[in-house]
Parts: sequence; structure tokens; C-alpha cells
Amino acid sequence: KEISMELIDGSSWLSPEEIASGVEEYASYLEEVKYGEEQYEENLGWLDVEEWAGEKWITYYQKLAADVRKNADVFVVIGIGGSNQAARAVVDAIGETGPVTIVWAGNSISADSIRSVLQELKGKSVYINVIAKNFETLEPGIGFRALRSFMKKEYGEEYVKRVICTGSEGSHLEKLCKVNGFHFLPFPANIGGRFTALSPVGLFPMAVAGIDISAIAKGAQLMRQRLLKESASESMALEYAVIRNLLYQKGFSMEMLSYFEPRYFRFAKWWMQLFGESEGKDNKGLYPLFGNFSEDLHSIGQFLQDGSNVIFETFLDVQDTGASYILHNDNVDDLFDYLDGKDFDEINRAAFEATITAHSKKFPCMKISVPAVDEETFGQLFYFFEFVCYLSAKILGVNPFDQPGVEAYKQYMFQALGKNENKIQANGYGAAVGD
Ligand code: PA5
Repeated sequence: KEISMELIDGSSWLSPEEIASGVEEYASYLEEVKYGEEQYEENLGWLDVEEWAGEKWITYYQKLAADVRKNADVFVVIGIGGSNQAARAVVDAIGETGPVTIVWAGNSISADSIRSVLQELKGKSVYINVIAKNFETLEPGIGFRALRSFMKKEYGEEYVKRVICTGSEGSHLEKLCKVNGFHFLPFPANIGGRFTALSPVGLFPMAVAGIDISAIAKGAQLMRQRLLKESASESMALEYAVIRNLLYQKGFSMEMLSYFEPRYFRFAKWWMQLFGESEGKDNKGLYPLFGNFSEDLHSIGQFLQDGSNVIFETFLDVQDTGASYILHNDNVDDLFDYLDGKDFDEINRAAFEATITAHSKKFPCMKISVPAVDEETFGQLFYFFEFVCYLSAKILGVNPFDQPGVEAYKQYMFQALGKNENKIQANGYGAAVGD
């Protein structure tokens, strides 16, 4: 049950010789990425899955999650970007099992959004988990405030027992935990937000949702072992990284991740952040976008098939969706009788194959086969894409682990809001630990 990759009929854009020569050229990069380079040492805590998703940690996250699951109806995850996307990707695709519903907050500044979150919590037993590496990010900061007020009103001073903070050691958030008695979980100092799927950031909320996080870790480990073992000519990761960069050089400046299972929407958002924030710098990089098919075929499908030829597509091909719904004839002459007795899943597959055939005539298409919608496969996918991202950014010639560009708008916003930078520096809890 391993994921695999295939370039569909790519010969008119990329010859097998070009790919092979790219693979040869960057073979040494693969070896460097396998074990991580010294210059990125402080950002590679995800590379060895054991470090934050080894058995000891998994047992710890599970135990903490079991305590929450004993009493909670709702678990609010307050975080943005790398601090919530991975957990949300898995929970949205697989779904919660058991008593706890996950609610997502701290990822917006909209008054309407926070109001509707608070509305949803009324009459429920609520626990919250604020996740922030750099506890200066505005969205989780104000989301946490709003939730604290709500919790204080509901539970009085006892509310602190229902608050878990995932933050950097030495951060202001850790200080708040000590002063107020919130439970503290470490946000790994050696992993940047978007690479934290396989750490307490991603795994603890998943465990609260009833996701089998040991299977996620197992899938990631399997992928790690495979990527370590594969030589350059066998490496799926190197091939994908090389193809992306070759297509970029040929003027395909956007990569679209397309899928026919809408429950991969949040996964696609995670993927988009991973590549966009890691590669889009120094005036370079592929713009990542996604196609939520078949719905988006009826909107952006026109542009894809007939517009500027700047996009190439990577399809997620989910082999076993685990779902079935047969379309029965109900004796209404609706002209859809050619579909009588067919499964939605079968019809979806026909749409998928037809789309690949049509799109691959216009631009390069790749297919990543995803064996099933399950934990082990998500573990493989997270690790695979993180590894490819590091490798691909290296080929592109950018640092995958920083994000200087996201600071620009913040300076204007903080200025407009009257943020006192001096006070933050004086407290000694500056932006050094995060972004
Ligand atoms: O990948 C990153 O570092 C960012 O996307 C962060 O995850 C995001 O900005 C949230 O940051 P923080 O956890 O510090 O609030």
C-alpha cells in the first residue's frame, strides 16, 4: 500500500532523456537531503520521524488526548498556517471518531467567524488547544483571547484545566502557561510551522479527534525508509522534484494539485502552503494552486483546457475511496438512464480518467497514486511532500525553511494597529523563534 508517481504521456514536453539527465545532475542533492544539511540543522527536526513522532512521543500525545476525550464534546484548535493545516487535513478527510468534534479557530480575523465559533460551543463541554510557534501571530493571539473569555464565563477559574498550549520553549506562551496553569506542550524549536505535521502540533489534535496517530507515524516511517533506500535513479522524490523544476524552466509557472475527492480540500491547502511558502522567494518558484474536482472543472476547467498554457497538473489518484453509492433508476425519465446501477465512485473514476486524458493533451500531467484514505497513507503523503519540498527548493536554489515575504504586510498592519514593538523586545519574546 505504497504511494507511487507517474508522468502521463509527458514526452511532448519532457523527454525521458531530459528527466534522466536532471536526475543524474541532482543525484548528490538527494544524498544531502536524505540526512539533512548542516546549514539547515535548526529546521530539520521533521527529517528523522523518530524525533517527534517516535513511540514515546506518540504514547504521550495519545495519553493526553485520552484525558481530553473523557470529558470533552468539542475541542477547539486555535492556530493558523502550519499550526493547524496538517491536523485539519487529516480530520477533514478521515473524520472524527468517538465523542469529540473538532472546531477550528484562530485562523481568521473575521468577527463573523469568531462569533459563529462561539455560537457552536454553547452548551457543550469545551477544551481548547492554542498552537503558535511565534506567539505574536495575530489570528491565534486574538482567537485565544476570545476563547479565554468564553471559557472563563462558562467554567470560572477552573477553565485553566481545559486549556492546552502548544508553544516554543522560552516563548511568551510558555510563560502564560506557567503563570496561569495551562497545560504546556512543546512546539519543536527545530521545525518550522509548515513542516510540523508529524510533531505535537499536528499529531495531538489528530489524536483528540480519534485518529490513529501511530499509523500516521508508521506511514511516515515507511516513506522515510523507502526514500533512504532508493538510489537516485529509483527515487520517486528526486524524479518529482526534477520534473517540477524542468517544467518551471520551460515556462510552466504554476502547479495545480487536483483531486476528485472533495475531502482532500484541506490536504490541498496544506500542500499549497508547504510549497508556496517554501519555494516562492527571491522572485522565483512555482505558484501552487489546487483543483477541487469535479466541481472546479465547471469553472477553472475552461482556463485549464483553453487558456494560457502556464499550469501543469499533479493529480491525487485515490485508489480506494472506501465509499459507495449506487444510482438506482426511480422510473423518472430524467435522461440519465445510461447511469442506471452505476456507483458514484465508478462515475467519479470515469470523470477522473477523462480529465487526465483531456488535460494531458494540453499540458503536462502527473499522477500520484494514493492507495487509500487512511492514516498510514497520510503519513506517507506528509513525509513524501515535505521531503520533495526540501529537495525541490534546493534544486531551485532557495532556502525552503524561511519566509521573509510574509513579514511585509504585517509591518503595515501592526503599525496601523499601534503595536508596540519595543515592549515585545523588552519582554525578550521577539519573533526569533517563529516567523
Ligand atoms: O510555516 C510557517 O512557519 C508559518 O506558516 C506558520 O506556521 C504560521 O505563520 C503560523 O505561525 P505561528 O505558529 O507562529 O502562529
